[in-house]
Amino acid sequence: MKETVIEYRNKVLHTAYKHVLKPIFFINDPETVHDRVSKMGEVLGRFSIGQKLTRSMFGYTHPKLEQTILGINFKNPIGLSAGFDKNAELTDILPYVGFGFIEVGSITGNPCSGNPKPRLWRLPKSKSLAVYYGLKNDGCEVISKRLQHKKFEIPLGVNVAMTNCQDTVNIHNAINDYAKAFKVMEPLASYITVNISCPNTLGGQPFITPHKLDYLFDILDEIPTQKPIFIKLSPDLTDAELNELLDVVHKHRIHGIICTNLTKQKENNPKVKDGFVPKVGGLSGKPVEEMSNRMLSHIYRREGKRYVLIGLGGVFTAEDAYKKIRLGASLVQLITGMIFEGPQVISEINQGLVKLLERDGFKSLEEARGVDTY
Ligand SMILES: Cc1cc2nc3c(=O)[nH]c(=O)nc-3n(C[C@H](O)[C@H](O)[C@H](O)COP(=O)(O)O)c2cc1C
Repeated sequence: MKETVIEYRNKVLHTAYKHVLKPIFFINDPETVHDRVSKMGEVLGRFSIGQKLTRSMFGYTHPKLEQTILGINFKNPIGLSAGFDKNAELTDILPYVGFGFIEVGSITGNPCSGNPKPRLWRLPKSKSLAVYYGLKNDGCEVISKRLQHKKFEIPLGVNVAMTNCQDTVNIHNAINDYAKAFKVMEPLASYITVNISCPNTLGGQPFITPHKLDYLFDILDEIPTQKPIFIKLSPDLTDAELNELLDVVHKHRIHGIICTNLTKQKENNPKVKDGFVPKVGGLSGKPVEEMSNRMLSHIYRREGKRYVLIGLGGVFTAEDAYKKIRLGASLVQLITGMIFEGPQVISEINQGLVKLLERDGFKSLEEARGVDTY
C-alpha cells in the first residue's frame, strides 16, 4: 500500500515537473535558475515545517537500501554529487529531498569567484550540461564556519580541490592549497573527496600525472584523520593512464574512488547531439555515462573490493543507477538527472532499485555489486 502511494505521488510530481516547472526553468538562464532554486531551498531548510513538507513530498525509505560502508551509515545509495551545493548552503534541506548522502564543494583553500559568465549551458538533446564554473566557491574558512554547530541528517562528503588562480599553477602551491582545504574541512566531513579532475581550472589537471599525484598524497597522508578518503577521477583517462594512477593510489591512504567527473570529450562523442556546444567547459550527463561506466568496471575488475566505488555520470533512472551497482559501485551520485527529471527522481530511483533487486533475487545492494563485471 505504502509503495503504491509513493509511486503515485512520484508520478504526479514527475508530471508537474515535466510540464510546469521544467519548461519555466529551461527558458531561463541556467545559473540564475540554480541560484534562485538554491535560495528557496535554503529558506525551506531553516524551518522544521519546510523540512517536513519536503520529506513528505520526496522521502522514501526501504531496509534493502541501507548499508554501512567504511563505518558510515547510508539510508540509501543515492547521493548528490559535488557541484550542486558548492558552498554548503543546502545541508539543512537536501536530506529531506531523499538523498542518502550529499557531497558539498568543490571547496578550495581560498575563495574564488570562478570563471567569467556564461559558464553553464543546457544541452537538452544530449541530456547534458556544459559546465565552466571554474571552482567558484567561498573558500574553506568561510564554508567551515557556515557548517560549524550544524547537525547533519545524512552523511556529508566534502570535496576539496585547489583554488583556481595563477598561484596554484605552481605545483607546490597547489598541494598546499589542497592541504589547507583538507585540514580545515576534515572535522566536519563524514568522508573527504580529493578532486583531481576539474576540467576548468587555470592549472589544468596536474595530478593526473602519476608522480605529481604521489607527491600530493605524500602531503595529504600526513594530515591526521580517521575519515575515509576518496579520489575523484576524470572519465577522459586512457586505460594505461588509469592503471598508472591506480598504482599510485595503492601506495596511499585512499579508501574509495569516484568515477567520474565531467568529460572534455565533445567532438567525436556519439552522445553529444546538440548543434551548439560551447568550446569551453566539461560535459555532464549522458555524454559521460558510458565512459564512467567503462572506468568503473575496469577498476572493479582490476581491484575487486579493495576500494569503495562511487558510480557517477548520466544517472537519470533506477536502471542507470542499478547498472553502475552491477558494474561494481557501492554508492551512486548524480546532478544532471535531477535537473532534467526533477527532484522526485531520487525517490523514483530508490524505489526502482528495490524492485530491480527483488526482480533479480538479490537480498541486498552488496549482493548485486559487481555481478556484471566478472
Ligand atoms: C553544474 C555542475 C557543477 C559541477 N561542479 C563540480 C565541482 O565543483 N566539483 C566536482 O568534483 N565536480 C563537479 N561537477 C561534476 C559532477 O559532480 C559530476 O561528476 C558530473 O556532473 C557527472 O554527473 P552527472 O551526469 O550526474 O551530472 C559539476 C557538475 C555540474 C553539472
